[in-house]
Amino acid sequence: MPDLADLIANNRVWAERRRAEDPDFFPRLAKQQAPKYLWIGCSDSRVPANDVVGLDPGELFVHRNVANVVVHTDLNCLSVIQYAVEALGVQHVIVCGHYGCGGVQAAWRGKPLGLIDNWLRHVQDIAAPHRRQLESLPTEAQTIAKLCELNVLAQVVHVARTTIVQDAWTRGQPLAIHGWIYGLEDGRLADLGLLLTGQENVDAVHMQAADRLLGA
Ligand code: CO
Repeated sequence: MPDLADLIANNRVWAERRRAEDPDFFPRLAKQQAPKYLWIGCSDSRVPANDVVGLDPGELFVHRNVANVVVHTDLNCLSVIQYAVEALGVQHVIVCGHYGCGGVQAAWRGKPLGLIDNWLRHVQDIAAPHRRQLESLPTEAQTIAKLCELNVLAQVVHVARTTIVQDAWTRGQPLAIHGWIYGLEDGRLADLGLLLTGQENVDAVHMQAADRLLGA
């Protein structure tokens, strides 16, 4: 079994380079973090959150799971959202999916993979009401890309419906929930056109955004 000495060696080089560039970098971060953004993304190794938005350590609070799913009983994700909103006071939550998502593809194909089927069920539930439109797309790749987009929109709404975000809006805390998607093939982010900043019209705004994506 290979050891991980090269990773530790890489770390030493990285830490030394950061220190050389900014001697106060680590002491400053060790004292406190003050990120302005919460990123909820996919665990996929090709979508490193900080890198794709050009942010340094300390600038992005991050939660990642397979297919960037926000479930109302997932204490892990809810705890991240609560800490980000209530303790760190982030003003933006970015739900970022990505094209070519293996989780979304597996959800669409429905081939049994084990325990993860239960997690991907949430993505299948998003596909179900749009199945006819999704199946009418010319290629499976286009169908899966569209489902990746619809999944982001649904997860934006789920974030907005958490007690944490509802309470923040009731208090008058400025908080915006954004839906973005990342392209593995070109490294570019796109805004999917769903921005929630308050309790009003969430369903209508969600449906308008979904209809736009589906060309309905
Ligand atoms: Co993915």
